[in-house]
Amino acid sequence: MERTLSIIKPDGVAKNIIGEVIKRFESAGIKIAAMKMIHLTKSQAQGFYAVHKERPFFDSLTDFMTSGPIVVMVLEGENVIAENRKIMGATNFKEAEEGTIRREYATDIEKNVVHGSDAPETAAFEISYFFNHLEIQSR
Ligand code: PPS
Repeated sequence: MERTLSIIKPDGVAKNIIGEVIKRFESAGIKIAAMKMIHLTKSQAQGFYAVHKERPFFDSLTDFMTSGPIVVMVLEGENVIAENRKIMGATNFKEAEEGTIRREYATDIEKNVVHGSDAPETAAFEISYFFNHLEIQSR
């Protein structure tokens, strides 16, 4: 059993597709082990995306991620890191496969509706950034 962090970004929350995103996870047999809605401060967003701090889009990305509330979730299931990335589609929605969340709802590489951890080490960091172990329910 594996865990990953999923975020419905401010554009996804604003588009009223929280339920649509969750439905896709649950339909794929993925369990939601933790969930909350929060509104990040700039420094919280910078901490979360610290691996990208040298990238040219860092300031824009962290501004965007503080522009409205987000939904953060711990997803649990077999191979869930890869499964979640398959359901999300490619970072750049123009390259995302038909039927994926980003292909259907993203509007650019930044406003791409969802985030998902890309490896076990990043999943561990990202989950602990938002949740303590008492807030995660294995089901
Ligand atoms: S990586 O590390 O090269 O794989 O980077 P990538 O996964 O493509 O992108 C990391 C996150 O940065 C966002 N991103 C951008 N934001 C704004 N402008 C540009 N040009 C841009 N390129 C990438 C991208 O949406 C990723 O966000 P997360 O939340 O990690 O999915």
